[in-house]
Amino acid sequence: MRVRNALITAVVLGMAATTGAVAQDESGEALYMNACAVCHGTTAAGDGSLAEFMNVPVPNLRQLSQRNDGIYPMLEVIQTIDGRSGIRAHGSEMPFWGDLFKADAVDDGGMYGSEVIVRGQMLSLALYLEELQEE
Ligand code: HEC
Repeated sequence: MRVRNALITAVVLGMAATTGAVAQDESGEALYMNACAVCHGTTAAGDGSLAEFMNVPVPNLRQLSQRNDGIYPMLEVIQTIDGRSGIRAHGSEMPFWGDLFKADAVDDGGMYGSEVIVRGQMLSLALYLEELQEE
């Protein structure tokens, strides 16, 4: 199962690398379409083309507020996407985007600058998802 997940991650990263959009357009929407839509779907409803190949259901990301008493859980969303801290650090079916985006950012920002870039990207993604929340 781990091998299959590694394979899926490789496919996702391959796509991101070919389009080059991660480095060029840093808006939350562009980052989302590039790295997340393949699993979570273009409208974030959890119906991306890779979703059926995952071992676990891919969540609908439009209902994060709904499932949290109507309050968008900003910090948890950032930590969940990043994956390097919080509960996900102990293992998850979703790639650890903090590590993957950082590897991509080192060329532009170096060791320390890349961390700033990655945190900005995580925030952009979380803000984009906030816009998509259903009442
Ligand atoms: C390879 C498929 C895949 C990709 C690509 C992917 N995710 Fe996920 N994501 C999942 C799965 C599966 C889960 C639920 C299980 C888990 O967390 O292990 C999940 C869970 C989440 C959650 C938590 C949802 C909840 O209900 O608490 C968030 C937030 C999230 N993803 C955001 C993103 C963002 C942002 C991106 C792009 C940077 C992304 N995902 C890319 C598969 C993926």
